[in-house]
Amino acid sequence: MGEPAARLDSRTGDGAARRAPGWGSDADRRLRTVLGHFPTGVVVVTAVDADGQPAGMTAGTFTSVSLDPPLVAFLAARPSSSYRRIRTSGSFCINVLSADQEPVCRTFAAPGNEKFTGIGWQPAGSGSPLLDGVVAWIDCDIETIHEAGDHDIVIGRVRELDVASGELPLLFFRGGYGQFAHASLTAPAQPDLLEPLRAVDRIRAEMEQLAAELEVECLAVAAVDDQLVVVGSAGTQDEIVHHIRIGQRMPFIAPLAASLVAWAARSTVDAWLARVPGSDVDRAAFERLLVLVRERGWSLALASAELLALEASVANQSIGITESELDDARTAVMDIGADTHEPADDIDAALEYRVANLSAPVFGSSGAAVLQLSLYGLPMPVSGADLVRYRDALLAAARRASQALAKAGNH
Ligand SMILES: Cc1cc2nc3c(=O)[nH]c(=O)nc-3n(C[C@H](O)[C@H](O)[C@H](O)COP(=O)(O)O)c2cc1C
Repeated sequence: MGEPAARLDSRTGDGAARRAPGWGSDADRRLRTVLGHFPTGVVVVTAVDADGQPAGMTAGTFTSVSLDPPLVAFLAARPSSSYRRIRTSGSFCINVLSADQEPVCRTFAAPGNEKFTGIGWQPAGSGSPLLDGVVAWIDCDIETIHEAGDHDIVIGRVRELDVASGELPLLFFRGGYGQFAHASLTAPAQPDLLEPLRAVDRIRAEMEQLAAELEVECLAVAAVDDQLVVVGSAGTQDEIVHHIRIGQRMPFIAPLAASLVAWAARSTVDAWLARVPGSDVDRAAFERLLVLVRERGWSLALASAELLALEASVANQSIGITESELDDARTAVMDIGADTHEPADDIDAALEYRVANLSAPVFGSSGAAVLQLSLYGLPMPVSGADLVRYRDALLAAARRASQALAKAGNH
């Protein structure tokens, strides 16, 4: 590595004394340009000033600081008049702007004291304004303020916070506004997920194309020991029509994820069956289910009340699911009968179906099913004719995904 192109002097103070020798307007521009390549969310920091008037300023420097105690921070330019009013109030509310709140962002970035005209808000617990339409808010008391160059680092202790809407957040990048396009997401890396995550990375394009073409959500599910993990998702939905989240874990247990088991070694099948609690389990019915899935090449889980209840209860559990939560989920799976889970007959174009998910296996180069692709969010009910269309597109995508894995040498 050579010399850094621009070196900052760490001394604080006024004017030229802050700058390293040779630091000029070119270096200032470079600083802004390079730092602008780091994308940020956008918040409006609000407070009620000593005269009882609301104050607010746009900030891109909001960050979480500590979980215990719960601390967050933002950085404020000391000359800002809004900041001075926020500072003296002793508390502030962070308002996380949604993608359609660009006008709100501009209003609160302009200098002046009249920023609240036409803006709907209500007081948070501290009295600071909680703006209408935000994605989330965090109400804080000022804990400490640290001087850093021409800015103050303002640390707040969280009093109360909440997610206010399911909207996507506003983003700021290279001087422009944008929004988070989650064409696809992958689960946070954990040691046991490295292989499945590598596989998801290789089939992302197929998942995104399929989700866009069918306008449904496509999940990639992997079996990791005795658990199923949602390792990838593509396609977004305006409303939450089901409860499965990225990173979610569930018990790997009959009749769930039959397409990950139908082609597996006998030991995997036996373990899948053995995990079902209770002695009076109709294991033969689950075995018939596997034969059916293997013959068809796909699996159709009907939206029984029992399956939906299981998904809802799993969604309320922690992402890292504890042993006792797993036990509860295993017990809930017992209520799902093999026969009501998957129809034995082929799809009838003249019928209507209530479908929880439609799934197909993605094979690695060793011939084992390494991921299950599942379509979620199908119309409820869906016509048999449409279901055939969904199934055929899913099978074609799963085939392409298997080829991509084989080519990459993914087992
Ligand atoms: C996207 C964006 C992010 C900003 N982030 C900050 C910030 O983190 N800290 C800050 O002091 N000013 C930030 N500003 C500028 C302030 O919003 C602006 O200087 C202030 O609201 C001026 O109003 P005032 O004179 O009432 O203080 C940002 C502006 C924009 C557009």
